[in-house]
Amino acid sequence: MSETSSTLSVEVWRGGQNGSYQSFEVPRRASQTVLDVVTHIQRQMDPTLSYRFACRVGMCGSCAMQVNGVARWTCRTHVSKVAKDGRLRLAPLSNMPVIKDLVVDMDTFFEKIQAAHGRFKGEHTRHEPVALVKPDSPARQEADAGIECIGCGVCYSSCDVVTWRPDYLGPAALNRAWTLVNDERDVDGGRLLAVAGDAGCHSCHTQGSCTLRCPKQLSPTAGIAGLKRMAARAAMRGELGNETGGA
Ligand code: SF4
Ligand code: SF4
Ligand code: FES
Repeated sequence: MSETSSTLSVEVWRGGQNGSYQSFEVPRRASQTVLDVVTHIQRQMDPTLSYRFACRVGMCGSCAMQVNGVARWTCRTHVSKVAKDGRLRLAPLSNMPVIKDLVVDMDTFFEKIQAAHGRFKGEHTRHEPVALVKPDSPARQEADAGIECIGCGVCYSSCDVVTWRPDYLGPAALNRAWTLVNDERDVDGGRLLAVAGDAGCHSCHTQGSCTLRCPKQLSPTAGIAGLKRMAARAAMRGELGNETGGA
């Protein structure tokens, strides 16, 4: 099929949480991405359409939305791969409140990363030598495996447990915690406790939607399994105390 000789039927979510879909006919182009489609609608058809993007090259993570029911980065998703019979249905990410149209409120998502102690805590100053971490140490390899997360929310939007229990920290926050507990330079002693509670790693059902959908090919599922093992060992050694956090 020639990509330039037809149009796409695009349904786009409009309004807030109780909004509805609006239909547009958008010209098909060669090598067209879903973000190109949204941009065409906003620039040529309805300037009131709200959506987010910044880099257009899969670096910032701001363009994620649901495309035909699946959370994706729209800048890296070609229409030819996802349009079903020339149709696209675009919706905001799920598991986050809708602000307007395709824009969601990501505050809770980022607050959970904070709650999971997702910030590096070092003790060296710039006056000390750079820490030497062996590239082939098992902990370094675990940390490397999860470090490329860009906080796009695709995994979080794809996680059924987040839908069922909104206090669950979710795959991105737990992946970040796993990365940092394996960082030999980090000195935050409370991170494992923060993620070992009821709403933390033990709530994961290990079905792997997060890993299946992550556009960076990270595996939050593997990191969460690592946290479960680490937390269980720490609990057996009596290192987690009686109280555990989680959200
Ligand atoms: S783990 Fe992957 S899907 Fe989840 S926020 Fe990070 S980059 Fe996005
Ligand atoms: S594997 Fe765990 S974190 Fe990932 S989608 Fe499933 S329940 Fe959510
Ligand atoms: S616009 Fe930055 S990842 Fe898509």
